[in-house]
Amino acid sequence: MSHVPQDSSPNSTTASDSTAASSSTPNSMPTNEHNPSIPSLFDLSGRTAVVVGAGSGLGQASALGLADAGAHVIAADLNVEGAEATVRLIADRRAAGGAGAGTGASAGTGAVAEAARVDITDSASVDALVAAHPEAQVLVITPGANVRKRLTNTTDEEFDKVIDINLKGTYRLMRGFGTEMAERGRGSIVTYSSFRALTIEAGQGLYAAAKAGVVQLTKTMASELGPRGVRVNAILPGPFDTPLTQQIKADGRWWGAYADKTALGRWGTLHEIAGPVLFLASDASSYVTGHSQLVDGGWMAHDGRFTPDV
Ligand SMILES: NC(=O)c1ccc[n+]([C@@H]2O[C@H](COP(=O)([O-])OP(=O)(O)OC[C@H]3O[C@@H](n4cnc5c(N)ncnc54)[C@H](O)[C@@H]3O)[C@@H](O)[C@H]2O)c1
Repeated sequence: MSHVPQDSSPNSTTASDSTAASSSTPNSMPTNEHNPSIPSLFDLSGRTAVVVGAGSGLGQASALGLADAGAHVIAADLNVEGAEATVRLIADRRAAGGAGAGTGASAGTGAVAEAARVDITDSASVDALVAAHPEAQVLVITPGANVRKRLTNTTDEEFDKVIDINLKGTYRLMRGFGTEMAERGRGSIVTYSSFRALTIEAGQGLYAAAKAGVVQLTKTMASELGPRGVRVNAILPGPFDTPLTQQIKADGRWWGAYADKTALGRWGTLHEIAGPVLFLASDASSYVTGHSQLVDGGWMAHDGRFTPDV
């Protein structure tokens, strides 16, 4: 299957192309004659996707989704056993056929996923991952950590830990892979923020501040690398049942209140993150950058405290 160029940079546009586009008249209106097919826009065959935090939860679900679309997935995590388990899941889906086979030229050829160890709080470790996969065209950054305490009870160490994993880790990865993608003139970076970047809860101040920072880093990198063909977008999940949210799950009232606050009246299931991640990673979103994509079951869409009987 032929691809439209991913994230094509103005650098790859000839001067005459630019002139033709800007001097568009009714007589030279573009048509839909060369409209790419929807399956081709979502097809990642032949592309390397580095998914950091792929050993668990939403990172693993993201990795499975990108592999289903045909990407060669590098499942990177501090927890190598988790990353290896994700690689096995991808291999099992490929072996089962259909899922994981991709839709494009490499469909059925069984591009293999790989596990990698990385510690995103260590710049040397991040740089080694970048050096091992400079050709990556997709980067998904998922590691996160939370310390649920009121601000007056938190310590400098807790502040540093939450900021280092959520914010500075994202920065290290987008800096390294962003540099390589810009040199090649193409790429898509998907960061993981949170609905907590937009609305807070008592006891989540450090996390909320870090996630708001991720949104601003995402917008800045989108602005800086857009002219060089690299798109950068943030996913803002709502409540999903993962190791990160077990403290909430252990408290029935907390758990139920979260379900009730969403418009859909429930927590998200892991695979429901994969579609939005694939959309942002692929050419399906080729004119989307600097965006904050909520995947929150409608949490942010409504007040939710009271539904009048009208
Ligand atoms: N689960 C939710 O409800 C929810 C809601 C909003 C936002 N998020 C965000 O989504 C992202 C994924 O969360 P999750 O719930 O899947 O979490 P998770 O705990 O299931 O997974 C996090 C993964 O990151 C890895 N990791 C941790 N520290 C690392 C480091 N220093 N270097 C490399 N890898 C490291 C862990 O080993 C783990 O595999 C996070 O950024 C989180 O803040 C989650």
